[in-house]
Amino acid sequence: MKLLHIDSSPLGQASVSRQLTAAVVQAWQQANPAGEVVYRDVAAVAPAHLDGELLQVAKFGANQDLSPAQQAERALVDSLVGELLAADVVVIGAPMYNFSVPSQLKAYLDRLAQPGRTFRYTESGPQGLAGGRKVVIVSSRGGKYAGTPYEAALDHQEAYLKAFLGFLGLTDVTIVRAEGVAMGPESKAGALEAATTQIGALFLAEAA
Ligand SMILES: Cc1cc2nc3c(=O)[nH]c(=O)nc-3n(C[C@H](O)[C@H](O)[C@H](O)COP(=O)(O)O)c2cc1C
Repeated sequence: MKLLHIDSSPLGQASVSRQLTAAVVQAWQQANPAGEVVYRDVAAVAPAHLDGELLQVAKFGANQDLSPAQQAERALVDSLVGELLAADVVVIGAPMYNFSVPSQLKAYLDRLAQPGRTFRYTESGPQGLAGGRKVVIVSSRGGKYAGTPYEAALDHQEAYLKAFLGFLGLTDVTIVRAEGVAMGPESKAGALEAATTQIGALFLAEAA
């Protein structure tokens, strides 16, 4: 069994999502002592924004006469897609930034959408090719968005991630949520406690 662990918060020790992804991975390791963990910190080593040069490789599949930057992009895309497809479980630390995700995480996900490898278009529409693996999204956010329809309409973080992953065929998605972490110490402590309880139950069936 293999777990792919992605962190995307730039806030190091102060990060809520990092603390919680580490707890998810620890819980998984307890349930799968022989399991292997592959780690990617896309804040520490952030994929570049896709400019015209990189897009030729990342989206249009160019393989020949590549510039040094394009060769590096080819290698990056291949290893990121390879890591995803080799994983049984994917854990993604995903802070909410301005109602969406940090641009480092967006740039990482941009590399995963590869025609013919993670999705394809058929006569009846798009088909995800990366299914068959479980995803745990650790969602951290300062405010609260899981209550009223108005709040939910502001959520372009979890909603985007679920839509994007679903497009790739990744529909077995569990959200571990710590929200309201900027609404005072009590709210933050309550959010961490709820998320920690949820994490404790995540892999119980596997451990049994
Ligand atoms: C640049 C930035 C933008 C943010 N935007 C939002 C936002 O739109 N909505 C929200 O509820 N919280 C927002 N927050 C708060 C974060 O979601 C919250 O601090 C969360 O814990 C960040 O994850 P992390 O602790 O893993 O870094 C923002 C924080 C930063 C630094």
